[in-house]
Amino acid sequence: MFRTTTSSVLASSTRMLRQPLMAPSTSATSFMARYKNAAAASATTRMFSISTANNNKSPSTTTPRHPRVLVTGSLGQLGSGLVKELRRMYGNDNVVASDIRKASDEFMATGPFVYADVMNYSMLERIVVDWRIDWVVHYSALLSAVAEKNPTLALSVNINGFQNMLELAKVHRLRLYSPSTIGAFGPSTPKDNTPDLTIMRPNTIYGITKLHNELMGEYYREKFGVDFRSARYPGILSADTAPGGGTTDYAVDIFHHAIRHGHYDCFLSKDTRLPMMYLSDCIKGTVEHLTYPTPLPQTVYNLAAVSFTPEELANEIKKHLPNFTISYPDPARPDFRQAIADSWPGSLDDSKARKDFGWKEEYGLENMVKLMLDKIQAQVNAEKKAVHSDDPSTATMAA
Ligand SMILES: NC(=O)c1ccc[n+]([C@@H]2O[C@H](COP(=O)([O-])OP(=O)(O)OC[C@H]3O[C@@H](n4cnc5c(N)ncnc54)[C@H](O)[C@@H]3O)[C@@H](O)[C@H]2O)c1
Repeated sequence: MFRTTTSSVLASSTRMLRQPLMAPSTSATSFMARYKNAAAASATTRMFSISTANNNKSPSTTTPRHPRVLVTGSLGQLGSGLVKELRRMYGNDNVVASDIRKASDEFMATGPFVYADVMNYSMLERIVVDWRIDWVVHYSALLSAVAEKNPTLALSVNINGFQNMLELAKVHRLRLYSPSTIGAFGPSTPKDNTPDLTIMRPNTIYGITKLHNELMGEYYREKFGVDFRSARYPGILSADTAPGGGTTDYAVDIFHHAIRHGHYDCFLSKDTRLPMMYLSDCIKGTVEHLTYPTPLPQTVYNLAAVSFTPEELANEIKKHLPNFTISYPDPARPDFRQAIADSWPGSLDDSKARKDFGWKEEYGLENMVKLMLDKIQAQVNAEKKAVHSDDPSTATMAA
């Protein structure tokens, strides 16, 4: 297990953060040349072929097969949807879901699920070996608001957990996909149309851990040929899974409150513009990036869909629910998440992801709002129906 002390983590992060990131030139080129000839070629082909045992001692044959994928943190907002999609593509048994929480009966019925604490290296290694894992999607993390409340745990889970995975990727030649975030930028980053490579001086513990991971992933790719891939996700909206304690959670909560109560007390100011994306787009982009057959020119890509403020989102909701009302915090007494949001970009330039692996979103503000409202209304109707049928006073009497 990797034991990284808080001070050593901070020291190394600070060292790496001293310089703004520069466009990869010679180092990326040399990596691409070496990697194409060695690691990538072997990784891509090996992932999709297995040697067949041969008793006649004639040359062994290979049979194409799907990659076996481990997903950590798979019970979170993003993991369950990704597991479902990967199982659809590769078969249930080829996708091992994991977390440190108990899964629902419904989730357990769809394929293998194991307990995996990402802070425990030998536990992770055992899973990789036992299940003969080829690719890992590393989703375990503490998100921005939760991390800010518990920085010590965030350092352990986000940095040590990731470092364990990175080391396993090196030792067992795994492809490792681990998302970064808009939180990896900081207050001195250009706010509009923020490019992939720019000033990055995050001032939240979440952002610091994620930028640390971006740099470590890049280092392992360059130094050891690890097939590390990452995208900076914006805030993700989903009607089906609850958000995990991020600063963009308001954009999910607002729909539940609009439908159930007709009013929402927003914790961000009305003009806080942030990049957002609907969950199915996030899964689509992740799968496209993860499965891209050859190494891509960049280790980390911005991934974006739409940017809006709480006021713009509320106005869009009002088109469907005209009586909906929203209130905002007193500017003199902002919520602690306002400072986090203010340090993030308002919109991202993701043109490199669009060019390099064909990323394109399906959902903008209008169709996303309509879908969220329809889905949450259906959930509320189903809840009401369930309560109604449990009520003995309304139950139909058997003859
Ligand atoms: N949801 C978003 O809006 C968003 C935006 C940007 C980036 N991301 C990134 O995407 C990834 C997934 O995010 P999410 O929204 O699903 O997060 P989430 O908080 O909903 O889920 C994280 C999961 O990690 C698990 N976990 C916590 N500690 C663990 C440990 N020690 N070992 C194993 N698992 C542990 C939790 O049980 C949880 O199920 C994270 O890396 C996050 O930083 C998410």
